[in-house]
Amino acid sequence: MFKNAAGAAALFGLPAQKFAKAATPLPDGSLFDHDPEAYWTKIRDEQFLLPHWRVFLQNGSLGVAPKPVLEAVVDYLTRSAALQLEEYPRWGYETLDQHRTEMADYLGCKKDELAFTHNATEALSIIANGIDLKSGDEVVMTDQEHPSGKSGWLEKQARYGITVREVKIPLPPKNPEQLTDLMISAIGPRTRVLFFSGITTTTGLVFPVRQICEAARAKGVITVVDGAHMQGQVPLRLSDLGCDYYAGSPHKWLFAPAGSGILYIREENLEKLWPLVVTAGWDDKKLKAARFMMMGTNNRAIFEGMLAGLRFHKQIGSERVYNRMHQLARMAREKAEATPYIELLTPADDRMYGSLMTFQIKGKTDEQLKPVGDIFLKNKVWTIWGQRVRLSTHIHTRPSDVDLFFNTVREVLG
Ligand SMILES: Cc1ncc(COP(=O)(O)O)c(C=O)c1O
Repeated sequence: MFKNAAGAAALFGLPAQKFAKAATPLPDGSLFDHDPEAYWTKIRDEQFLLPHWRVFLQNGSLGVAPKPVLEAVVDYLTRSAALQLEEYPRWGYETLDQHRTEMADYLGCKKDELAFTHNATEALSIIANGIDLKSGDEVVMTDQEHPSGKSGWLEKQARYGITVREVKIPLPPKNPEQLTDLMISAIGPRTRVLFFSGITTTTGLVFPVRQICEAARAKGVITVVDGAHMQGQVPLRLSDLGCDYYAGSPHKWLFAPAGSGILYIREENLEKLWPLVVTAGWDDKKLKAARFMMMGTNNRAIFEGMLAGLRFHKQIGSERVYNRMHQLARMAREKAEATPYIELLTPADDRMYGSLMTFQIKGKTDEQLKPVGDIFLKNKVWTIWGQRVRLSTHIHTRPSDVDLFFNTVREVLG
């Protein structure tokens, strides 16, 4: 078997450059020590395909995969198309033990508690569909949930007569304790499930997941966390969070290729959850969480890419990545705070936001906002613009991207 694509290329007389080429090594750590800005510039220029003219502040919807990730995907596809693999690449019937072990190690859970899915939506649907609830049982969630999180419960409400109740979250909230109090005091006699996002999609608010899960558990309530934004954006150990179920989208902040998802099922729940998409093995409890990966033929190369994304993140270092992303978000927050017609939805408390920063524009009409959006389009700035704004910062974001954003806003709106 060939260890790399070049070997396969040589065998088949294919031009080697059509196959994945070796990744450029990461810049030396000493560069970070004496000139961190030069270090991050080098990362953007050498590790990503982003052109210099692209100002990308929209990572919250879908991240960008760096070169090593693309190379891993292409390399795997190439080798499987050349039938150069020892195994039959057919995830959908495979347990991918090594991959899950590596990811579980990073997420702070057991391999047997972890399944790979295509995205968070799928994992969230599996959870909502798979927990046994009957008419009259109640699910409590926040009023900040993404449609992919809440729709599974709403469908169950329409179909089985469960009740869904929303907790109103103040924007911005005062502190994490207020969020815990709001969620826990909303639990009533019929509440079976507490569902909330670890980081909300609308405002990037970081919830005190551990405190909420601990208090809910003490009341015998099942906790389900939509962690679509968590892995890669904030430090994370699932075993410390203490939730029953968790869904994630590594293709947002963890450099994974689009189509990568995570489903975590706390060990004690492995036999309780019903799978949603099924084939042989659906009832084989010995498979543990891998039971939820038996879904028919799929693109295994995506998971090679997802693991390459995880390794890329770890190579730079989780702490260094978090610090940079948050530093840029804080810089954006400070600029927003200094703009009179901007009303911040992101609290000042560093614990309550990571790399998503949101605000509202006060006293400006849609007609006044439109020229700003037009300039963003012309200057290749990707962001969510309107009466409510969400900015995402990642390690490939340049301080000048944040400057350009606010300079444009101020030039047009004053
Ligand atoms: C909080 C939250 N949950 C779920 C999703 C759905 O993620 P995916 O598209 O990866 O399924 C998103 C996507 O933006 C999200 O922000």
